Amino acid sequence: MDEITLRRPDDYHVHFRDGDIMQAVLPETARHFGRAIVMPNLVPPVVTGQDAAGYRARIMAALPPEMSFEPLMTLYLTEDTDPNDLAAAHAAGIVTAAKLYPAGATTNSASGVRDFENIIPVLEKMAEIGMPMCVHGEVTDPQIDIFDREATFIDRVLEPVRKRVPDLKVIMEHITTTEAVAYVASAGANLAATITTHHLMINRNALFKGGIRPHYFCLPIAKRESHRRALVKAATSGDKRFFLGTDSAPHVDAAKETGCGCAGVFSATNTMSCVAQVFDDAGALDQLEAFTSLNGPRYYGLEPHEETITLRKEAPRFPQHIASKDGPITLFDPEVDLQWRVV
Ligand code: NCD
Ligand code: ZN
Repeated sequence: MDEITLRRPDDYHVHFRDGDIMQAVLPETARHFGRAIVMPNLVPPVVTGQDAAGYRARIMAALPPEMSFEPLMTLYLTEDTDPNDLAAAHAAGIVTAAKLYPAGATTNSASGVRDFENIIPVLEKMAEIGMPMCVHGEVTDPQIDIFDREATFIDRVLEPVRKRVPDLKVIMEHITTTEAVAYVASAGANLAATITTHHLMINRNALFKGGIRPHYFCLPIAKRESHRRALVKAATSGDKRFFLGTDSAPHVDAAKETGCGCAGVFSATNTMSCVAQVFDDAGALDQLEAFTSLNGPRYYGLEPHEETITLRKEAPRFPQHIASKDGPITLFDPEVDLQWRVV
């Protein structure tokens, strides 16, 4: 097989930021992806329906006119989120989902939730109206080892919250561990998970290969090789609860290559080549379309795209950086020879 045609893919977890960075990275996503779940962790975060409508308008204004793309907006859950505002924004089609960040878990998450008890009424409203919740699944307790924070979150937070609000549709975002794969696989129809490009391709050794490598630092942090293999197995398994969310998270190089660098891997540009490579290497190209283009829309209650994209077995070429007015943004380097190019 040296050519493969898929329904147009979607990205179920992306960071566009705002302003000049958004201007630089938005075409990188819209070139291949028809829709994306847009993360709300701006500074200040997207917390109300009005914030989301404004952000959506800025995205549409920044989109090159020849590109077709639909941003699926999210609200950032806080302990002060008004269930009625959230429900009205959902009913009006302004927002698709809401995002739960434990306070302090990741980039720009200071406004996140400290006491999960305080958001139960919002979650009950979401369950009632059929609005899904995307979760950053890591505890923030500094006593917990950074490599254990996802598995601990499942036991301490996710399972109790899902028991309290069983009808809530949940997406465990950017899963990185065998524990998360097993938890999602064992759950019912109200739990799914996204998997990123980079977590399918690198393990934690990449962070320290020959020195400290800030462009491989993201949260959740990459885990050991056995976990990466479990992610590949889940992604290529055909299980409809696993789908692509790149977590493409641009930071300019100056913010990454410093004494306390930001978390985030920017992969929008080469994701389709990377993911095709992972599936090809696993002998599972027949499952690629399900992972990139079918399982996500199915879980979110959307139609898959009628349009298609074609990948050909030809070495693609990518730049090392994307230029932005704020400075260069380094593209994810999978450190393997990619063989698939979107034509
Ligand atoms: C994301 C970012 O930069 O906004 N960073 C990351 O490492 N993934 C935040 C997030 O999704 O956790
Ligand atoms: Zn993210």
